[in-house]
Amino acid sequence: MDIPGLPARQAALRLLDAVLRRGETLDQAAHNALQAVRADADRALARAIAAESLRWLTDLDRLIDSATQQALPDDAKPRSVLRLMLAQWLRLDTPPHAVIATALPLLVGGPRRLAHGVFSTLVKRDAKLPDAPTLPPAVIARWHGHAPGIAAALAEPPPLDLMLKDHAQTESWRDKLGGVSLMSGHIRVPRGEAIERLDGFGEGAWWVQDLAASLPARLLGPGDGRRALDLCAAPGGKTLQLAAAGWRVTALDISAKRLERVAQNLARTGLEAEIVVADALEWQPEALFDAILLDAPCTATGTCRRHPDVLHRITQTQIRDMTEVQTRLLERAQGWLAPGGRLVYAVCSLEREEGEDQAAAVTLASDPITAEDLPPFLSPGPEGWLRTEPGMLPDDGGLDGFFIARWVRAG
Ligand SMILES: C[S@@+](CC[C@H](N)C(=O)[O-])C[C@H]1O[C@@H](n2cnc3c(N)ncnc32)[C@H](O)[C@@H]1O
Repeated sequence: MDIPGLPARQAALRLLDAVLRRGETLDQAAHNALQAVRADADRALARAIAAESLRWLTDLDRLIDSATQQALPDDAKPRSVLRLMLAQWLRLDTPPHAVIATALPLLVGGPRRLAHGVFSTLVKRDAKLPDAPTLPPAVIARWHGHAPGIAAALAEPPPLDLMLKDHAQTESWRDKLGGVSLMSGHIRVPRGEAIERLDGFGEGAWWVQDLAASLPARLLGPGDGRRALDLCAAPGGKTLQLAAAGWRVTALDISAKRLERVAQNLARTGLEAEIVVADALEWQPEALFDAILLDAPCTATGTCRRHPDVLHRITQTQIRDMTEVQTRLLERAQGWLAPGGRLVYAVCSLEREEGEDQAAAVTLASDPITAEDLPPFLSPGPEGWLRTEPGMLPDDGGLDGFFIARWVRAG
């Protein structure tokens, strides 16, 4: 018998399983697990249920454990189903009877009775979540004193940030889109609207890019026809920025598939860049560059508001593996700068090993980021490096976490 709403819950369960047991990213898991789900609405709902379950996982588990004497292993199916049920009720406002009707069919026999009992107990108790999600202990240990601010920023998924091709039109696009602008070229709109339906998408007036993610390319200034290398370029937000700022851009990435997105974005916005599919650890340029932007592969923990899977997937081993690649990429990039050329290094990670520790090992002359380079609500650290965190701008929708530093090759 077809139960309406069941495919979305089955898919949400597969997503949770892929992230928590197999260590996949939520994006990868969605790509693999949602293909078989026919309706767009079911795919969106499955992803929302899984994302909210991951965002509030520690608190959902606490509630579950408070309502049963039975020790449910982390990977037991009744626990996973209960997480999904509670996320729907407490975060997505699904009425309890609808939660029960659509999620309990995921279980049979004793486990079904157990999940029903735990859920009903919590509903009767009128259980609540705290104001902000409780972070997993390993994450709290890594983020030290920054953890509370980041957790507060995690309570809601973030708004949508758009980056304009033409900064001179910031005010008119802000008014047309009904958003707010926190910096020239930036528009922030409430989340929820399909991107393709927003005014200006078809004509390529903007692309989606978190405000913090737009800072590294801004730090290279106008290009005036000079040559820039966007190393690790896909899906291309920074390539578009550099091209729009007048740089002649070479956009390099190891992933041909992800570079297709760069080509599509260039076509949509009418901007130009040379696209190179290559491993930056082996590739050699034919000439030196006036600017290099290294937006290195990283653990992406700074994007935890949109990708709450990073709270549960990232281990110390992964951080170490990433830092090895970043070190090698930084070493190579330093050798490809023309005299007087500038290097910007960026990672959307909150881990010191991927940010401050990497920057400390660079041997080029520092080109400190100054207050003039930044909007008034941001300031550089004493070394001239910039750290952004999701807990910043708490009343205006937050920011992704980034580390950014800049150097210059002596002329
Ligand atoms: C943080 S993402 C870049 C995001 C991009 N700069 C933007 O703004 O849209 C990192 C990229 O590094 C690429 N990458 C990873 N290892 C690489 C390597 N050895 N050589 C070239 N690209 C690599 C990945 O394919 C991924 O697209």
